[in-house]
Amino acid sequence: MPLVNAKEMLTKAKAGHYAVGQFNINNLEWTKAILLTAQELNSPVILGVSEGAGKYMCGYTTIVGMVNGMLNELNITVPVALHLDHGSYDGAKACIAAGFSSVMFDGSHYAIEENIAKTKELVATCEELGLSIEAEVGSIGGEEDGVVGAGECADPDECKMIADLGVTMLAAGIGNIHGKYPENWAGLSFDTLEAISAKTGDMPLVLHGGTGIPEDMIKKAIDLGVSKINVNTECQLAFAAATREYVEAGKDLQGKGFDPRKLLAPGFEAIKATVKEKMELFGSVGKA
Ligand code: 13P
Repeated sequence: MPLVNAKEMLTKAKAGHYAVGQFNINNLEWTKAILLTAQELNSPVILGVSEGAGKYMCGYTTIVGMVNGMLNELNITVPVALHLDHGSYDGAKACIAAGFSSVMFDGSHYAIEENIAKTKELVATCEELGLSIEAEVGSIGGEEDGVVGAGECADPDECKMIADLGVTMLAAGIGNIHGKYPENWAGLSFDTLEAISAKTGDMPLVLHGGTGIPEDMIKKAIDLGVSKINVNTECQLAFAAATREYVEAGKDLQGKGFDPRKLLAPGFEAIKATVKEKMELFGSVGKA
């Protein structure tokens, strides 16, 4: 099946009280592991690409070519959206031109008026082309691709203003952060999430920083209107740990163990296991 935008899968998720996972990709192995797991579990999936990962993978057109090739060669029939993660205004335009099916415009660091103006313009472009668009209010904490956010809680009135522009999905800070959570993390602010949900109604809400959020908090967030959950660091940690184990066991020195197809295989399987665990937790299994 060709790429789809994220609108239908998220509308269904919101109505069905589950969430679709966005898993960020970094290379061919990542992409293949995520797509195969989604297909095996009959789950919709969103492939996330940060601007940094976009540069690393030789630009957006390379990524579109790789993902479209895999959808075809692997006979992927579940809905797959290719989505720019935390895009700048120019990055969003570049991904739209390259053939992404979905973009995020992260204007959370602008004053609300400028966030609204830029989001509005991109909403019009996406509507015209049949793409989905995610906007953000209240920056997500932690560091991602060198961008450091403070982990704010979004203002529910500002969320409503951005939701009313016609975005497909809305990321709102509720005390979540990217990367590993510190020991003294206060947890998600469910009061904020409830207030945002009450103001934005049917709008699918996005929870960033999915790595390391306890299961009960994930379930409560879904109950309160979260329909998309982003996971990146957890796949990286799983990949690194499995690769480390392989090398520390000296397997790269045995026979043809240095062959990248062997060297990267444990990490590939570890990503598959992580994605499976998340899809089961988010409730998207069997929902394609
Ligand atoms: P983590 O790296 O914390 O899983 O967050 C991913 C994310 O929110 C991507 O936008």
